[in-house]
Amino acid sequence: MLLESQTKDINEARQGEVYAPFEKDPNKYEKKFYIESYGCQMNFNDSEIVASILHRDGFGATKYMEEASLILLNTCSIREKAEQTVRNRLQIFRSYKKERPGLLIGVLGCMAERLKSKWLEEEKLVDIVVGPDAYRSLPALVAEAEGGQKAVNVLLSREETYSDISPVRLDSNGVSAFISIMRGCNNMCTFCVVPFTRGRERSRPPQSILKEAQDMLDRGYREVTLLGQNVDSYYHTENGKEPVNFAQLLEMTAQLSPLLRVRFSTSHPKDITDEVLHTMAKYPNICKYIHLPVQSGSTRILQLMNRTYTREWYLKKIDHIRQIIPECAISSDIITGFCTETEADHEDTLSVMRYSRYDLSYMFAYSERPGTLAQRRYEDDVPETVKKQRLNEIIALQTAMTRENHLTDIGKTFEVLIESESRRSKEHWSGRNSQNKVVVFPKNEVHTGKGDYVQVRITDTTGATLLGEIVS
Ligand code: 5AD
Ligand code: SF4
Repeated sequence: MLLESQTKDINEARQGEVYAPFEKDPNKYEKKFYIESYGCQMNFNDSEIVASILHRDGFGATKYMEEASLILLNTCSIREKAEQTVRNRLQIFRSYKKERPGLLIGVLGCMAERLKSKWLEEEKLVDIVVGPDAYRSLPALVAEAEGGQKAVNVLLSREETYSDISPVRLDSNGVSAFISIMRGCNNMCTFCVVPFTRGRERSRPPQSILKEAQDMLDRGYREVTLLGQNVDSYYHTENGKEPVNFAQLLEMTAQLSPLLRVRFSTSHPKDITDEVLHTMAKYPNICKYIHLPVQSGSTRILQLMNRTYTREWYLKKIDHIRQIIPECAISSDIITGFCTETEADHEDTLSVMRYSRYDLSYMFAYSERPGTLAQRRYEDDVPETVKKQRLNEIIALQTAMTRENHLTDIGKTFEVLIESESRRSKEHWSGRNSQNKVVVFPKNEVHTGKGDYVQVRITDTTGATLLGEIVS
């Protein structure tokens, strides 16, 4: 699931920061819209699809709320905190609207379905509500709202993949881009609201994915991340054509050019196949990095979560990945304090983390979501203080492991794709290696720039970032 500005990576995005993209030349459009996005990278990518749809309708994106006649919030429901942030933003927009008659406010994304009647009718917070599969109807809904009607479309679809719409790359670093390859999820993890908010799984035709990747390459981009809630279950079938699975899609994307790096996210441990692992090993331009969320290290809790694997099975998968791709970095998502979690279950999670030696983890306290299987079946019975305490413990362990892991990189040389100047200094470049680690290093006299590959020898680490120098 996809996360901030295109210059920020998927990892940061998961933390649910705000992303307000903008058009480089908004003045060429008569009307302007302002959009903020929350939640996962899929949502950020959706905002770029929305921008494309609105461009066709004569709207340019602006970074400044004051210039906009349409304010959109692309929302996330994954945890209660994300919903609360959106609610607070809407209150601010509502008071702003009092000074700006005619201004329209719309809510997009995962919160749309559940809160449509509350926000539209009861609280009159918004004018437009559009679910994740209904963005094509946005221009018509804007017109309805301009005419003073309440405009809603939250229908979920079994087919919509927006395959023919080229997302407008707003505020991009011009080097790395995200490409949605599928939408929805069929997995039904009991804690998760996504199957309800984003609907059934469907795969986008491979030709449209490859065309988008080729376009990015032609425009100077050097890295694409194939995105989906569960990319390993990508499977596209069409009458008269051979079906295409994820390993095949990955291979076809990697074959576009050795200069194009290919990443993907997210993998479900039960679905990632040997075919995918061997394809990764075969192509140097497929990055050696897998995001493989474990969620919990306790088999009992995994069962309650409906993850369909045991602790032992997951650990074997980790061994298997390291056998086939020894240099592969692995990251995880972990939830603390799921229903009935005991101290012993928590210890199991800590030991799975140690065994897996994750390079990075996204860690969350369990947040009960309305309508999920867990909310209907189990009691949210772990006290908040215990959830927080366990969360702090796993964060401390991960921070220590990341630091240790980075220390072992000192002295190694990596190929790094330059993405931007370092945020701290104009004299330094910032990029990532194949393992998705951020590397910062001084610019040297040799002419290098964004989108170039350079060999960097690691000399030090700040803990979270690697520091190095270009070697010829
Ligand atoms: N509470 C806490 N974390 C959750 N996630 C999904 N649903 C919940 C929830 N109800 C986490 C999972 C998932 C990541 C994107 O968000 O770890 O992998
Ligand atoms: Fe949610 Fe599980 Fe699907 Fe991920 S795989 S989106 S956690 S239901």
